[in-house]
Amino acid sequence: MRGVILRETGKPVEVSDGLAIRPPGPGEVRVRLRAAGVCHSDLSMCEGRLPARLPLVPGHEGAGEVVELGPGVTGPPVGSHVILSWIPPCGGCAYCLGGQPNLCTSVSPPAEPTLTVGGEPAYAGLGVGCFAEETVVDARAAIPIPDDVPFEVAAVVGCAVLTGVGAVINTARVRPGSSVLVIGCGGVGVNVIQGAALAAAAPVVAVDRVPEKLAAARAFGATHTLTPDELREAAKELTGGLGFDYAFEVVGRSETIRQAYKSTRRGGTTVVVGAGSADDPVTFSAAELFATERRLLGCLYGSGDVRTDFARLLRLWRAGRLDLEGLISRRITLDGVGEAFEAMGSGDVIRSLVTF
Ligand code: APR
Ligand code: ZN
Repeated sequence: MRGVILRETGKPVEVSDGLAIRPPGPGEVRVRLRAAGVCHSDLSMCEGRLPARLPLVPGHEGAGEVVELGPGVTGPPVGSHVILSWIPPCGGCAYCLGGQPNLCTSVSPPAEPTLTVGGEPAYAGLGVGCFAEETVVDARAAIPIPDDVPFEVAAVVGCAVLTGVGAVINTARVRPGSSVLVIGCGGVGVNVIQGAALAAAAPVVAVDRVPEKLAAARAFGATHTLTPDELREAAKELTGGLGFDYAFEVVGRSETIRQAYKSTRRGGTTVVVGAGSADDPVTFSAAELFATERRLLGCLYGSGDVRTDFARLLRLWRAGRLDLEGLISRRITLDGVGEAFEAMGSGDVIRSLVTF
């Protein structure tokens, strides 16, 4: 089959017709991809800033159709439409039972790689490998959705929407009337913005270094937009000199995490949504953490429960309270993924979406 492959970090991705997929084993299903979004984490893996096993088939924001069940698997049945979850909850560990299934680590990667390229093993990015025509995943990673949800809409729910909206409603549990700052207005950032609007936060202040992204931020509900240089002055003005109740960092860099943290009020909360790299430490003095009671929260996959949150987000979309179509700036084929990585830095693309 056809798929995108990265052989060496820092090198461009290639498209290969020489990928092969093995049948699903016990506990697994085979899914035919129908749509997949291009997320910044895919690029970070290809550039070596996030860990990934090579050769890599990237892509972790996908939706498709179940086409085969492994031995003993009872569902989702063949024909089901599913969103792929890059953290499959096992359902039985302390995290799953304790209400934090996004932290489940019990579902291990398959013993035998699901993919080969030219006869050699290849590895599905984040266990799902959505930039290929098909993928074999743990059945618990295939979350069924209603048949009438367009695959394109379903795909973006699989990462950007759950991560961004989840950061607001699950991780931070923002109360109406809270002041919110969002640094980074890409595919994930605009979902933090629309999550904040949904939570009736005000003001919702968006910051990005690319001016064109600020127009998108406004369209998704930001009440004010700023360049990074304007932030320090404007933050004071917009919050009556206090600082923000909440600051969301959606870039994944120590510098912007510091910026977010410094923009919060005493007792305010910073949520780190961006996926940063292991060699980029963030420093805080012991005194500042103690003396101002500013809080710092991590956020993995929107602190969500994919078994209930995908459906919850789709209900909000159906009710017209989340704009998911508006996230999709352009449709590409697998051949366009390399170029979509480059377009990420430009102003006019929120999400490039691979259709099959
Ligand atoms: N200050 C402000 N904005 C910045 C800065 C900065 N120093 N550096 C980058 N940005 C902006 C970019 O201009 C872009 O609009 O951050 C945005 C990042 O958006 P995308 O590239 O679309 O990335 P996205 O897919 O939204 O992911 C954001 O979340 O899932 C993680 O790995 C992902 O860390 C990444 C983050
Ligand atoms: Zn992602």
